[in-house]
Amino acid sequence: MSQKTTTADDITAEVLRSFAAADPRLRRIMESLTRHLHAFVRDVELTEPEWFEAIGFLTETGHMCSDKRQEFILLSDALGVSMLVDLVAHHRPAAATESTVLGPFHRGGAPEMPAGGNIAHLDTGAIPAFVSGRVLDTGGRPVANAVLDVWQTASNGLYDSQDPSLDDALHMRGKFRTDAEGRYLIQTVRPVHYQIPSDGPVGAMLRAAGRHAWRPAHIHFAVSADGYEPVTTHIFDAEDPYLGSDAVFAVKKSLICRFTRHDSPPSFTAEFDFVLVPSDRFSNGGV
Ligand code: BEZ
Ligand code: FE
Repeated sequence: MSQKTTTADDITAEVLRSFAAADPRLRRIMESLTRHLHAFVRDVELTEPEWFEAIGFLTETGHMCSDKRQEFILLSDALGVSMLVDLVAHHRPAAATESTVLGPFHRGGAPEMPAGGNIAHLDTGAIPAFVSGRVLDTGGRPVANAVLDVWQTASNGLYDSQDPSLDDALHMRGKFRTDAEGRYLIQTVRPVHYQIPSDGPVGAMLRAAGRHAWRPAHIHFAVSADGYEPVTTHIFDAEDPYLGSDAVFAVKKSLICRFTRHDSPPSFTAEFDFVLVPSDRFSNGGV
């Protein structure tokens, strides 16, 4: 039996009741969403013009989404929601490599490369950087045949998909396999800080709030191996000035890595070990 809604509290209770028949997980999510959303409207005493502006903002966000651009993911990133989901969803042991945001620039089909392969072969003006290390399990044992799917911007601060001169070609991407001792070696260039796409509603939000769009220099890694939980993460350059103010809140201290300069021949080197968790860690041995 429906009752007439007369107060702001009545409407919240009525919407909550409307989810009573949903399956338990959906009910929990929709009830909590309703409570928080209604509390937010009350808290800020949202006006009708502000509400229409919010609808316009979300509509524009949707219009900026295509197979090349995902403005909703960018919005989630810039509001810290992607990182919050990452922190809430992953409960890895302390020894394991921490995850961070995937971001919108991963592409499938990166070429498999031998140890030492150069993902930056078109970035000829930049000083080479050699990134090496091992993939280990949480007991410190090497993980052989692990795959490291790697991507980063070129030294102009652009991902291949953002650079019209590359005409959709894959660049600054590669897949590397670890050897019997769990070792990997990648040739690239030192990463640079760059700005997240700012020509859409997310950029407008950042400008309106006086926020910058910079991400600290990093290299993306998705590391996987049979029998282990995959991890999607970055390594961050320890000298970057934006480590303390990443536009998408994705820096974790354990992912900061030093790039060392060498003069002859000019190059940088960085070392980072990835630690994977066995995927059967929650099993009870079949008992
Ligand atoms: C990135 O690191 O590629 C990225 C992550 C979140 C938003 C934009 C870019
Ligand atoms: Fe990135």
